[in-house]
Amino acid sequence: MTPHTATDRMARLRALPKAEVHAHLEGCFEPAVLEQWAQAAGVSMPRPREQLFQFEGLADFLHFLDWACGLARTRGHLAELSYGYSKRLAASGAGYADVIFNPTHWAAWQGRLGAMVDALDAGFQAAEQDGLPPVGLCVSLLRTQSAEAALELVDALVALRHPRVVALSIDGNEAAAGRTGPRFAEAFRRAGAAGLRRTVHAGESSGPQGVRDAIELLGADRIDHGVRAIEDPAVLDLLVERAIPLGICPTSNLVLRVYPSIETHPIDALRRAGVLVSLNTDDPVLLGASLEGEYALCQAAFSWSDDTLRSVARTSIHASFANPDVKQQLLGQLAQW
Ligand code: ADE
Ligand code: ZN
Repeated sequence: MTPHTATDRMARLRALPKAEVHAHLEGCFEPAVLEQWAQAAGVSMPRPREQLFQFEGLADFLHFLDWACGLARTRGHLAELSYGYSKRLAASGAGYADVIFNPTHWAAWQGRLGAMVDALDAGFQAAEQDGLPPVGLCVSLLRTQSAEAALELVDALVALRHPRVVALSIDGNEAAAGRTGPRFAEAFRRAGAAGLRRTVHAGESSGPQGVRDAIELLGADRIDHGVRAIEDPAVLDLLVERAIPLGICPTSNLVLRVYPSIETHPIDALRRAGVLVSLNTDDPVLLGASLEGEYALCQAAFSWSDDTLRSVARTSIHASFANPDVKQQLLGQLAQW
């Protein structure tokens, strides 16, 4: 039966078994927590609390991340963030997530990758003990980094062999960095050879060439955003032929001005072209997104049927870097929805 009220529809989307494969810990700060940490550290706020999360676009947003992450100075701060993400994930009805963090944003943790991963891991472990869903970590390079800095991070990651870390990622501003696929190819090759999965931000601040480079130069198992692949049929063919899934974040693309409206967003056109698409929040608190809200947004804008919702949720599970048992369990639950 089709639910009648908006509340019923939202509850039904929360109950849809799914995974999140594209969310950043950097995007999980609550405004009151930031204000409290800033006060405690004697750091002034960049603007009043009510306007704290108003962004001009990606460059302004990334700049804000450096300020916010700079306030997280203790192990307790990091564990509180990772635990908070798991709580939000469970409240959205997801059974697993791959979460990205980018060490370059966190000034207090420079050169302390192991301690940082341990602190985040403590929050995720506590969450799992409290019955919240499992989470894998994707450690991210920044597009504007040097090749040497990228290799240093990957070598440290490979030496660390932390069981919480499932993948190497790259994020940041491709429009500012220019074409950087060649710069990061060796770092991604080493990560892949060491058994790490690979996820790549592309086709958000870059066009379809960025998506092609993510596949051909960086060996991406999955692409974060990737939406601008819609501009080149040959890149669409590549995504379809190689079955490389996109982790799409419609609200993020609207707030950060990649597209002016959900009606002009290409997610449905990508899906109809045969590209594997999942829905995600990107930076949930900072950009005002919830996972069930992303499903509701697309359901309403594109009149998605239950079969379409199920297929997008299925892609989110298949595309995740969860272990096979977790995937099997979630797919079984999905078949019952
Ligand atoms: N880091 C956090 N969110 C991001 C985004 N949407 N694009 C690139 N880098 C990011
Ligand atoms: Zn992202």
